[in-house]
Amino acid sequence: MNEAAALADRFQHVFGHSPETIWSAPGRVNVIGEHTDYNEGFVLPFALEQRVYAAASHRVDGWVVARSVQVPSEVAAVEAHSLRPDARPDGWLAYPLGVVWALRTLGATGGLDLLVDGNVPLGSGLSSSAALECAVGCAIADLAGVQLSRVDLALACQIAEREFVGVPCGPMDQLAALLCTAGHVLFIDTRDLDRRQVPLDPASSGHTLLLIDTKVRHSLASSAYADRRRSCERAAKWLGVRALRDLHVADLEVATGELHDLSLARRVKHVVTENARVCAAVQVLEEGLLEDLGPLLTGSHISLRDDYEVSCLELDLAAEAAERGGALGARMIGGGFGGSVLVLADTTAEASIRSSIVTAFAERDLREPDISCATPSTGASEHFIATTVAHS
Ligand code: GLA
Repeated sequence: MNEAAALADRFQHVFGHSPETIWSAPGRVNVIGEHTDYNEGFVLPFALEQRVYAAASHRVDGWVVARSVQVPSEVAAVEAHSLRPDARPDGWLAYPLGVVWALRTLGATGGLDLLVDGNVPLGSGLSSSAALECAVGCAIADLAGVQLSRVDLALACQIAEREFVGVPCGPMDQLAALLCTAGHVLFIDTRDLDRRQVPLDPASSGHTLLLIDTKVRHSLASSAYADRRRSCERAAKWLGVRALRDLHVADLEVATGELHDLSLARRVKHVVTENARVCAAVQVLEEGLLEDLGPLLTGSHISLRDDYEVSCLELDLAAEAAERGGALGARMIGGGFGGSVLVLADTTAEASIRSSIVTAFAERDLREPDISCATPSTGASEHFIATTVAHS
């Protein structure tokens, strides 16, 4: 039985009736363009095969009952109209309830029974939270019969995360979960949300993309994220631009002089050079020169490590060990301070890269990371399982 059908069965068991709709949304890997989305810059994510599933049905009493297969002990039962950010629950429930709250302003006002499940690893820099928000958002909009474009739905899910959950994220993860397509990366200009699908099929040129989940999650992540975002806003204001996106590599020398703050200047340098690397990455992918992506990935990692200072020992170790094992390039992905590293390699180098990473972690008595292959997969989609659901 596939995941959606299994969730429908579980829903029937938990709520005593069938779900009316089931949606899923994927985790994402950002190939390049880290910490650029809240600077109105460029990003290049693709959707993972791993997904979060959400099954839902109407409730006429206006209540929201939310459950998770993974965390059965944490259940919400709340009247939809009473949801408020300052009274949000802790833990995973803040995400689906935030989406219910955000979508109420767009006309989806009813109550619902909701059950979610998924296989996107939590805290791995693969954006399990956006996958959860977007799967739930699709299910709610569908139930309510509210017609929203995928971009509007993504922005509503981002509002849920920013204003209800309280994480000042950019729009990349939600746009990726809703708009990515199989076999492609999605080049997004986060200023005007202009975007295009760029084909990426590493296997066809004898390449592979490996994901190294260091299994490290540092508590620093959320406070440092907010701090970096504030620094960027401060620098933009000081330099008289709307956002750091408006600066180019040629402006850096003058900008550094004007800032009188070396740490702030390094943050600016990361954002400006990272935007340039995204544009270069799109060009090499469109020209079919996948191996030329390698140095851009490594350049991004070095910039995140030294200038933006959001890496950590395990991420650096994984990236360096991958390169020693023969990778074409490697970099940390996501917010940083733990999570995963993306590695680009010739398929023939995969075994030696795996062994180099395992050895490097074992030598330092660190937990062995999870290593898997990542394939650009499809964005949020509906699952039709009506015929497989047993009615009691
Ligand atoms: C998190 C945020 C994104 C983005 C990345 C860093 O995943 O949710 O909006 O800022 O960090 O690139």
